[in-house]
Amino acid sequence: MSMQQQNNAEEVLDSNYDFLIKFMLLGDSGVGKTCFLHRYMEGEFRSRFTATVGVDFRLKKLDYDFPEDDGADSKKKIHLQIWDTAGQERYRSLTKAFFRDGMGFLLIFDVGNLETFHAVREWLVEIKEEAYCENPDIILIGNKKDLDSRAVSEKQGRQLANELKIPYFETSAATGENIIQSVNALLKLVVTRMRSLMIVSQGQAYRTGNSGSSDATADTNTPREISASLDTDSRRDEDTSANTACSC
Ligand code: GTP
Ligand code: MG
Repeated sequence: MSMQQQNNAEEVLDSNYDFLIKFMLLGDSGVGKTCFLHRYMEGEFRSRFTATVGVDFRLKKLDYDFPEDDGADSKKKIHLQIWDTAGQERYRSLTKAFFRDGMGFLLIFDVGNLETFHAVREWLVEIKEEAYCENPDIILIGNKKDLDSRAVSEKQGRQLANELKIPYFETSAATGENIIQSVNALLKLVVTRMRSLMIVSQGQAYRTGNSGSSDATADTNTPREISASLDTDSRRDEDTSANTACSC
């Protein structure tokens, strides 16, 4: 085993965290999911297109100001796993099997490709069918906002997001615009939900990353904050060195 592989394995096995949160990147093939993740983790753009086969994940370690009962914040260690899925139809049955572990979903389309925008509703049906609850936290993302010629306007994207009652971001993996902000917005939604579940279940829900708990499953109506912005100060740690890639 190489030193790098050993480091990666150690990162995955590191259990020194308060919460393990799993996000899924979904959307048609070519919308930029892998580039989005690469930009988030490495701060770089990969222009080469290699379609993802199956699923991969990357791990990011964060210190997060978590709200306490008394209204104060306390720092919690969060291990954020972001799962990158293959958009190609032929991998759908495989990738769907992972949806249930997702605590939040980044649903991406390409603003330069109308077909990928139309596919958003189909992805939503699949998320609602397969996720741990009927009403999971989802952010709609129009990626490739750097493109000169667009097939989907920002207004169309926002209209769809408003109709679906989910936040909308336009991002560019090429320039990095809004990548961190959109992940943080989803993190905030999920942490808010975790917080409300923990109040109900006295701190057991989601602990150890078990999103399939009965508490979580029963929760379809937790109030959600529909906000397109996030206080990025709440994320103190952007350590890109602490990551691990795994193929499954
Ligand atoms: P699958 O793995 O098949 O599901 O595709 P994917 O969604 O992971 O697409 P990927 O990230 O591999 O990107 C597909 C192509 O789009 C690549 O050629 C990228 O360089 C390009 N791309 C991704 N993001 C952007 C972006 O923000 N702007 C521009 N201009 N191109 C992008
Ligand atoms: Mg990919």
